[in-house]
Amino acid sequence: MKFNVFLEDPMNRVRLPLAMLAMLIAALTISACSGEAAEDSEESVFDVKKEKAVYGKIQHVDVGESIDATMAKAGLDVFDTKCSGCHKYDERFVGPALGDVAERRPPEYIMNMILDTETMIENDDTVKCLLQEFLTRMPNQNVDEKDARNVLEHLRDHAQNN
Ligand code: HEC
Repeated sequence: MKFNVFLEDPMNRVRLPLAMLAMLIAALTISACSGEAAEDSEESVFDVKKEKAVYGKIQHVDVGESIDATMAKAGLDVFDTKCSGCHKYDERFVGPALGDVAERRPPEYIMNMILDTETMIENDDTVKCLLQEFLTRMPNQNVDEKDARNVLEHLRDHAQNN
């Protein structure tokens, strides 16, 4: 009985499909961020994503096998002043933990996150999902390319040696 009344109400005829559409969109949005880890759905946004498009102005970064200690030390200083307000190494803070980020992400991704933050947030699927999770847009920290490369070396050092 109740259901008939519901369907006969012309307003509900509009509302019902709209509500279903909204649920569908919500479901799609969620699966876009946790989709490929369906079997093991834990924090897939932090998984390594290989063979992705590179967004931002840095298309390629050469990194050596070993760590350049001078660059890593300079990068630590930049990290302490410009990044540590939002990022810790081993636990989430305003942004994700970065202690192992150099293992989880390609060097180009890390460089573009520092130098071309806006482009990454707008275009990179991983970062779009991180934004949904952290609900804060990382601001561009106005780091120059040399300092950004030093920060990358520091993060590589941390990932390898901690
Ligand atoms: C005001 C807070 C804030 C500051 C300062 C900040 N970040 Fe972020 N960062 C974030 C947030 C939040 C995210 C998640 C993406 C988003 O929501 O924009 C993020 C994401 C990242 C990521 C991607 C992590 C992943 O798991 O893929 C990297 C790399 C990164 N930041 C590096 C840096 C570096 C290096 C600095 C310093 C130069 C820095 N951030 C400064 C807030 C910040």
